[in-house]
Amino acid sequence: MARASVILAAGQGTRMKSAKPKVMHAIAGLPILGHVIAAARGAGAERIVVVAAPGADEVKAFAAQHGAETVEQDRQLGTGHAARCAATALADFAGTLVVTYGDHPLFTAATFEASFAAQEKSGMAIVAFRSQNTAYGRVITRAGGLLDRIVEYRDADDAERNVDLCNAGILAADAKSFFRWAGELKADNVQKEYYLTDIPTIARADGVACAVVTIDEAETMGVNSRAELAVAEAAMQQRLRARALEAGVGMTAPETVFLSHDTVLEPDVQIGPYVVFGPGVTVRSGAEIKSHSHLEGATVGARALVGPYARLRPGAVIEEDVHIGNFVEVKNARIEKGAKANHLTYLGDARVGPGANIGAGTITCNYDGFDKHHTDIGAGAFIGSNAALVAPVTIADGVYVGAGSVITKSMAKDSLVVTRAEQKELPGWAEKFRARKTAAKAAKKK
Ligand code: UD1
Ligand code: CA
Repeated sequence: MARASVILAAGQGTRMKSAKPKVMHAIAGLPILGHVIAAARGAGAERIVVVAAPGADEVKAFAAQHGAETVEQDRQLGTGHAARCAATALADFAGTLVVTYGDHPLFTAATFEASFAAQEKSGMAIVAFRSQNTAYGRVITRAGGLLDRIVEYRDADDAERNVDLCNAGILAADAKSFFRWAGELKADNVQKEYYLTDIPTIARADGVACAVVTIDEAETMGVNSRAELAVAEAAMQQRLRARALEAGVGMTAPETVFLSHDTVLEPDVQIGPYVVFGPGVTVRSGAEIKSHSHLEGATVGARALVGPYARLRPGAVIEEDVHIGNFVEVKNARIEKGAKANHLTYLGDARVGPGANIGAGTITCNYDGFDKHHTDIGAGAFIGSNAALVAPVTIADGVYVGAGSVITKSMAKDSLVVTRAEQKELPGWAEKFRARKTAAKAAKKK
């Protein structure tokens, strides 16, 4: 059976107090909407339609980038009305549809999968969880555990309010039937809205039963405020850390490590305390990232050592057995096998050849105020401490660059290049200087 998903995201999100649409706020480096799209796609949804507010260009662009379509809901007349807005877009779709909310970032692909599967068995399915929270619709079941009805808390009587089974916000139904039922929704409730939650009752009149899939409350959290965004971030971090540990990654203090939704850590990677992974990082087996390092858009090869206090920025490719030490920043640069840059260095727009040694304080001067230029450092080169390599420049294979040199021109391989002034020596000067100064001070005191 073909699968599709409608994600409702036309809500204002006013409680975020942000110019950015609520679903575009990031969790683990990915907008909330991205997490929902990924979970739906992970459960086999081949078509995904996002219902957005008029003019939500950022939402539309993001959805398009992630292979989803967008439709607009002109006026916010409720979740049922929002779902109905996808009818035209999905007019040619035959199969199972899962309707869900765009502000629930913790729903997993497994939960979507379970609701698709339950729909295929029973005709319709909703997802529920146990909670006393008054924000949620109450799920009233009948004999056999099938759904009787969903009642919004505001519309519920005391007996219904006491039910602790709540609506999580995932509904699976046959797509064609769903849009037919959605056309019959009425806004006869406290909020005068068209409720998605009334669909099962309408379907029942058509003889379609609705199964109830139960999940853990931890997965159901919706984001409505900055505080809830932070709570969801913490929950997502916990999930990502647990997944990494489970996959064989070593972490001394997992609660201090921050991961991105797409961080790839191979088994036997070791992560020290307080390491932050921005998006787009891969670390190969046997590499170690020591404490207080920050990585983003970078690849770290097998057995490499990074940090403590290293910064890998986008385009940093650290090959196997490389050492990147404290206060070393690497941006858009390939550091080839076995090279070392152990202290206080900036390597930007560069290649460092295999086995090269970069001394403390080396800077690739890549920027002239207008353009960026490339520095190429050959295999086995030795760059003395505090060298400035003014790009564009090439350091040939096997070259020694004297400490403190400013290199602006290329040279033959295996040479020594030094640009600093020659050392002068005045024998006895210091002794005379001290004697003169000491005498002057003594004369002043008298
Ligand atoms: C909804 C459910 C409730 C459930 C809860 C779970 C209904 C009627 N109620 O309540 O049973 O327990 O979620 O969190 O569905 N949206 C639109 N257009 C609209 C209205 C809403 O796109 O006109 C979107 C919102 O952006 C949001 C989602 O639908 O992402 C849910 O809407 P919200 O108003 O938050 O529903 P709740 O009252 O929380
Ligand atoms: Ca909500």
